[in-house]
Amino acid sequence: MAETQVCAASDVPENGVISREVGDELVAIYNINGTYYATEARCTHGMADLADGTLEDDVIECNFHFGAFHVPSGKAVQPPCFIALKTFKTEVRDGQVFVDLDTPAPTADA
Ligand code: FES
Repeated sequence: MAETQVCAASDVPENGVISREVGDELVAIYNINGTYYATEARCTHGMADLADGTLEDDVIECNFHFGAFHVPSGKAVQPPCFIALKTFKTEVRDGQVFVDLDTPAPTADA
């Protein structure tokens, strides 16, 4: 899938996260101090929507079992999460957030 417009930048609160359906993927969009990131929104532990979790700096904590992920890299940083999140290249243009589901974020853990 090519780059897709997923929401307005203003839809994502500063230091907050929302989720949106993009095709078959539920995508979490984060605004961390004005920089936007996107990851898969389903927790790799138990399918919770990470947009229901708690964003603390650049770490999202899942509200089901309190595992956590580093948002820019997608890396799992707190058990019971061990599998990284997919990250997606994200850009803001003309006040809109665009996500490319085929391209990892440049900050992704290699
Ligand atoms: S579902 Fe997210 S930590 Fe278990």
